[in-house]
Formats: sequence, structure tokens, C-alpha cells
Amino acid sequence: MVVAPMGERAPILHMREVDKTFNGGIVALEHMSLDVNEGDFISLLGPSGCGKSTALRLIAGLMPPTAGRIEWEGGQGADDLGVVFQEPTLMPWATVEKNVFLPFRLRGQSFGKVRDRIHEVLALVGLEKFHKSYPRELSGGMKMRVSIARALVTNPRLILMDEPFAALDEITRQKLNDDLLSLKAKTGATVIFVTHSVFESVFLSDRILIMAARPGRVIREITVDAPYPRGIDWRTAPEYGVIAREASATLHGALAQTEAAE
Ligand SMILES: Nc1ncnc2c1ncn2[C@@H]1O[C@H](COP(=O)(O)OP(=O)(O)O)[C@@H](O)[C@H]1O
Ligand SMILES: [Mg+2]
Repeated sequence: MVVAPMGERAPILHMREVDKTFNGGIVALEHMSLDVNEGDFISLLGPSGCGKSTALRLIAGLMPPTAGRIEWEGGQGADDLGVVFQEPTLMPWATVEKNVFLPFRLRGQSFGKVRDRIHEVLALVGLEKFHKSYPRELSGGMKMRVSIARALVTNPRLILMDEPFAALDEITRQKLNDDLLSLKAKTGATVIFVTHSVFESVFLSDRILIMAARPGRVIREITVDAPYPRGIDWRTAPEYGVIAREASATLHGALAQTEAAE
């Protein structure tokens, strides 16, 4: 599937001046605006406590914003979202295919009707041979692949990923980054990806929103104008280094300001 150039993609979701204040007055997110278009790969990059998970939870509709609006183009439907967390959150008593079946089961569908789709997605994440395995038989990286398959299986309009690879070793993490991009190329998926890794965000995204804490907010947007597919050539490209350095400098500047205010 070919993803259209950034300027020509159909809109999916709009956030307008979204604030979230928790009881006790913590401003977890202030004035966040974001337009998500079909095929985007957007990273939210920032230190812990800057409101990244809060932004995802608001987009997922798990809680309402204190102010501002979050609007789905054409309204929101049941199949709009797939979510991947840092923990794979698999059911230990269920096989891989039954774990990936979960979103369908929650919609009251029978396994027989969606078995082919489940196996298709397991093939996409390289786990077709493991459909009868149990989570305890899988490595950390494989469990994360099951979690990604579960998020993709209903073909959602938007996939939210909250630091999905942060607990994995570096080699596995790079492999999963490569595989995530190839998945995106094959499925045309639209992704909002939370990370505190500069390198991961520059490798994966076409847009990076850099965030700072207290109050949680977006301080800068960087467009990463490198073509996909991206692989080792991009990881070692001079432009990759330039963007990574710029993102790091922005983050460090924001951290210094936060610390100075304390
Ligand atoms: N349910 C909650 N109640 C009160 N404060 C919260 C709640 N969830 C998050 N916060 C606070 O909001 C801020 C942003 O949190 P979070 O979105 O989890 O940050 P991040 O994901 O970037 O680490 C933090 O200061 C956090 O302690
Ligand atoms: Mg978080």
C-alpha cells in the first residue's frame, strides 16, 4: 500500500486546544492541538510526566478533557482504535490466536468467522507458526508482536502505542522498529507513538511532537522529511543525525527550564 505524501492525506482526528487538569490541580496537558491524517506516523517525545500517556488516554476517550475538543472526522466508531501498551498485557491462559481474537470477541463475533483474518495478521508480525503457543512460551519481543497483532486485527483507523518497546533490549527494539515500519507500509496504518527515545522517534516518525512537563505541553513540532521505507541507511544518514541532535537540544533546553522553575 502506498501512503500519500503528507500534505494530501485525508484527516482522521483533530485535537483543539485540549487541556487536562487532574484533581489536585496538576496540569497534565495544556493547549494541545494536533491534526492526525491517514497514514501519519506521529511520535510524542518527551521526559516522563510531560503528559504523553494523558494525551493518548484522552484520544482513546478513556477520560474527558478539561477543556478543548477532540473530534473524529466523520464521527467515532467501534473499530476506530487499536492500542498497544508497554506491557503486552496478554491473557496467560489463552493461545496466541485466542489473544489476538479478543477485540472480535468483545464485539460478539465468532472465532470461526475471523480465524483467517487472525492468521493473516499473525503472518504480518511473523508469528504464523506460533498461533497455538501460549504467552509463557514466547520471548518478550514475540509477546509484543502478539500485542501489535491484536491492535491491528480489526484494521483500526488509528493505532495508539504507549512506549511499546521501552522494556525490550536494544537489539530486539531495533528489530521491532524495523518491523513496525514494514507493517505500516503493508497496512497503511496510522500511528501515534509515545516514546522518550529521541533515536526511536527520528527513525520511525514523519512528525515528532516534542513535549515538556509542568505543565505538560507540546513545545515543538519537527517534520522528518525522509522517505519510507527506512532502514539501516536512514539510521546512519547525516540528516538523521542532524534531526536527532536538534530534538535532543530542544528536550534538554526544556528540561533545564523545568528544573530552574523548581
Ligand atoms: N489519574 C491521575 N491523577 C492525577 N495525576 C495524574 C493522573 N495521571 C497522570 N497524572 C499526572 O499528570 C502528569 C502527566 O502524566 P502522564 O501523562 O502519565 O505523563 P507521561 O506519560 O508523559 O510520563 C504527571 O505529573 C502525572 O503524575
Ligand atoms: Mg506514560
